[in-house]
Amino acid sequence: MCKHNRTGVPGQYDLTVGIEPRERNRRVRHDVTRMKPAEKAALDQWYCIDALEDIPLGESANRLLGYDLVVNRSSQGDFAVKRADTGATAAHRLRYGYLWVSLGAPAGGVPPIPEADEPDRRLVICGAVSVKASGPRVVENFLDMAHFPFVHTDILGAEPHTEVRHYTTEIRRDVDEVWATNCEFFQPQAALSATGGIMAQYMYRVTTPFTVMLYKTSPNAENRWDVICLFVQPLDPERCRAHPVMFLLDDVSTTTDLIAFQQMIFLQDRIILENQRPVLLPLEPRAEIPTRADASSVAYRRWLKEKGVVYGTTAQLA
Ligand SMILES: [Fe+2]
Repeated sequence: MCKHNRTGVPGQYDLTVGIEPRERNRRVRHDVTRMKPAEKAALDQWYCIDALEDIPLGESANRLLGYDLVVNRSSQGDFAVKRADTGATAAHRLRYGYLWVSLGAPAGGVPPIPEADEPDRRLVICGAVSVKASGPRVVENFLDMAHFPFVHTDILGAEPHTEVRHYTTEIRRDVDEVWATNCEFFQPQAALSATGGIMAQYMYRVTTPFTVMLYKTSPNAENRWDVICLFVQPLDPERCRAHPVMFLLDDVSTTTDLIAFQQMIFLQDRIILENQRPVLLPLEPRAEIPTRADASSVAYRRWLKEKGVVYGTTAQLA
């Protein structure tokens, strides 16, 4: 929150704005061995851990919530996932071109994405990106519009169009998700296939504490939305992999170009994410002063607290 502020110098971006002064020089990461292990509320979620196309036959190593995993893929296409330390079998699902795993007892299935089943959409798997940041920080950055002109300059935003207009946030109790709707932002190049600046409409949806998605104006289809997801895989409290995937209405661009566009955007975010302090997401009231633009972050933090999810937050410190 409040991390995306101008320095007053065009093109410059002060990463320390919004950080308490005593935190500014604290570049040392927490000792993960002194943090609480993953709590039940985090263990009971579904996590995307790899694109199926990236998983080799036979055994391969993976990691989730501080636990090493052994993934086994048979030549018949069957998968099995075990914890490396105990040998305990972990539940898994195959969905959206990815392997999903839970180390606990999830109440429901993998988050539903109805658009994924629409036949004219292109599934674009954009590759996993390692990020030295906490999972909830990555989710919050995805929800944030204020950084567009400063981090994704001349692509997802541009000066002087820096204002985040009022939008609506809610925790939808029927589906247990956080939504932000009526979001809009001026974007010089809202998508690879966009041919000029538009006022892009957005909706954000947080489906699990570590999976987030957005719906945005499609340059190629009126009255329908492009869908962009970010599946966050927390490896450790301060380290994760992010899996960006898109369900697009775009039959023009090449897959290579679409992936390159999305990776460019996310690598711009990674620079910001890896420099945020404190590294763990603060859950204490008023640890970071929210602005109106942060309404979605406020709702997300409230929802995490309600669920008792603390993995990757300051509440995980022993
Ligand atoms: Fe971004």
